[in-house]
Amino acid sequence: MGRFDGRVAIITGGAGGIGAAAGRLFCEEGARVLLVDLDSGAMAAACADIRKQVPGAQVSDLIVDVGIEDSAAQIVAHAKRAFGRIDVLVNNAGIRSYEPLAEAKRETWERILAVNLLSYAYLSREALPALRASGHGSIVNVSSMHAFIPRAGMGQYDVTKAGIVSMTRTLAFEEARHGVRVNAVCPGATFTPFHAKRFAADGRTQAEIEALAVNCCVLKRWAAPREIAYPILWLASEEASYVTGTALMADGGGFAG
Ligand SMILES: NC(=O)c1ccc[n+]([C@@H]2O[C@H](COP(=O)([O-])OP(=O)(O)OC[C@H]3O[C@@H](n4cnc5c(N)ncnc54)[C@H](O)[C@@H]3O)[C@@H](O)[C@H]2O)c1
Repeated sequence: MGRFDGRVAIITGGAGGIGAAAGRLFCEEGARVLLVDLDSGAMAAACADIRKQVPGAQVSDLIVDVGIEDSAAQIVAHAKRAFGRIDVLVNNAGIRSYEPLAEAKRETWERILAVNLLSYAYLSREALPALRASGHGSIVNVSSMHAFIPRAGMGQYDVTKAGIVSMTRTLAFEEARHGVRVNAVCPGATFTPFHAKRFAADGRTQAEIEALAVNCCVLKRWAAPREIAYPILWLASEEASYVTGTALMADGGGFAG
């Protein structure tokens, strides 16, 4: 028996590092999973990997831009058509922006707010009727340790991640009476294909990449995407039935870095 037998999960950013790892883990635990992403090549690879690693996995995929409000209704309709119900929503899609706030442009503000924050709000709103009907509906929002810990150079991103924590808390209050739990996971430095590509473009060596993580957390290393997928899965599971409105740090003890 898997912990999610008979249940259905939607995961946005499902073709990326953390989203694909979560997709695989939910499938391993018996869930039927809808992965949503913009990147069709990465999506094909993520679905093929899940089907290879988890024989019998029931995974569907949808290529849409979650930064457009209408996509939310499309995603929910697709999940219902494919699987008939929705029990878990993992809002995970995210983009980065590297402008100091003093130089931040309207275009980058609008795009990062649309993808990192408003997509979480719109998709939650659209999915809530089905999540309420589930009887054990759960939303897990992927934020960041930088919702709480300041740094220079990624202010727009960090603002969206702090907003996600606030949205999580309010929605947990509002949805408790409907039986839907709402939580956030705040990852620290997690080594995903995004970082691999970025560092390759910068010409960094493996030793340099590993050194970057040494000062950012107590564990002095990068997380693997699966190490973030487990807290996401746990928060969505019945084992976390008394947990709502929380922001779970999955940051290797980053606060002490
Ligand atoms: N990797 C880290 O170190 C880290 C740390 C803290 C928080 N996070 C958060 O975890 C989440 C996943 O990050 P990741 O590292 O796996 O990143 P990633 O870049 O590997 O994955 C993000 C995925 O989201 C997709 N995406 C982006 N914009 C989209 C859009 N408009 N519509 C649909 N899909 C879109 C991308 O195509 C990508 O597949 C993000 O919200 C990120 O901010 C990551």
